[in-house]
Amino acid sequence: MIIRFPFRQAAFGAFAALGLGAMSAPALAQGEVVVYCSVQEEWCRPMMQAFERKTGIKVSMTRKSSGETFAQIKAEAANPRGDVWWGGTGDPHLQAAEEGITEEYRSPMLAELLPWATRQAEQSKFRTVGIYAGALGFSFNTQQLARKRLPEPKCWADLAKADYKDEVQVADPNSSGTAYTKVATLVQLMGEAKAFEFMKAMHKNVNQYTKSGAAPARAAATGESLIGITFLHDAVAQAVGGAPVKVVPPCEGTGYEIGSMSIIKGAKNMENAKKFYDFALSAESQALGAQAKSYQVPSNKSAPVPPEAPKLSDIKLIDYDFAKYGSSAERTRLLAKWDAEIRNAPKR
Ligand code: F6P
Repeated sequence: MIIRFPFRQAAFGAFAALGLGAMSAPALAQGEVVVYCSVQEEWCRPMMQAFERKTGIKVSMTRKSSGETFAQIKAEAANPRGDVWWGGTGDPHLQAAEEGITEEYRSPMLAELLPWATRQAEQSKFRTVGIYAGALGFSFNTQQLARKRLPEPKCWADLAKADYKDEVQVADPNSSGTAYTKVATLVQLMGEAKAFEFMKAMHKNVNQYTKSGAAPARAAATGESLIGITFLHDAVAQAVGGAPVKVVPPCEGTGYEIGSMSIIKGAKNMENAKKFYDFALSAESQALGAQAKSYQVPSNKSAPVPPEAPKLSDIKLIDYDFAKYGSSAERTRLLAKWDAEIRNAPKR
């Protein structure tokens, strides 16, 4: 089913009044917090610096993709080393909530969030929360396309055509939340049997399954791959940087992510983890994304929506079933099926 999702594009004005001045005065040392970051490195770093400046709390940060971070938190559950997991697609955060490896927290900041972000919290019994949203799609290198005299891909179906042999790049859904969103999106759009048939056909065109979800957008930007399947905002970041890419919301419709955040169960720095969590839900911190060329739609009602952010209300979005595709049983089953049927499927 295709719906027009009622994403509200918040105004810039409300934010201007907040100002960023408060973030510049260094505070006294207040201990530490260990953050697992699953957005782009370019956004992880300024976010951590802003939090350190504002609170005096020292941040130790590691950047990994969503599926990798989920696996790490699970492996460390008996002796947690991280305190907060910030960013990454919502499905593995929901799975972590269901598996009881993340902690319930009802932040006072929830009242400032848009409904799609609080729904994520309610659905997980307040073990995770939405921090941004973004739609899935692909981008292609316009110069390579012209040089190779190929037609413009416009739809998911195009990506399985023989024209694009070895021309498509996408991440591995085990490590990457983006690529898992792709699997779940195709299953919801086409039905499971057709979606796996399609992925098997597209596999012939895939030149590499990358670890990180955004890597194929960089590959399309440099021309290393003609086409990259990613969230649209990751492709927009390349276009804004001057790369010859066209960003495509697929014609059949597409899925989206609710990028999320969770506190790790048994966090050693629990109070500081909650401070980071509250900060990450504020309009002032969410504004840092656009400054770091991360063009997701922020979840705080007063955070400025970057003008570059793909307008979710203009894209044909499916009614993505987060409860189902973020459940432990379904995510585990679909990943095992992808491993068995797609990863090593014949290329010819
Ligand atoms: O930071 C860019 C981004 O696309 C986020 O919007 C998303 O949550 C995350 O990367 C997913 O990364 P990965 O696919 O590597 O898990």
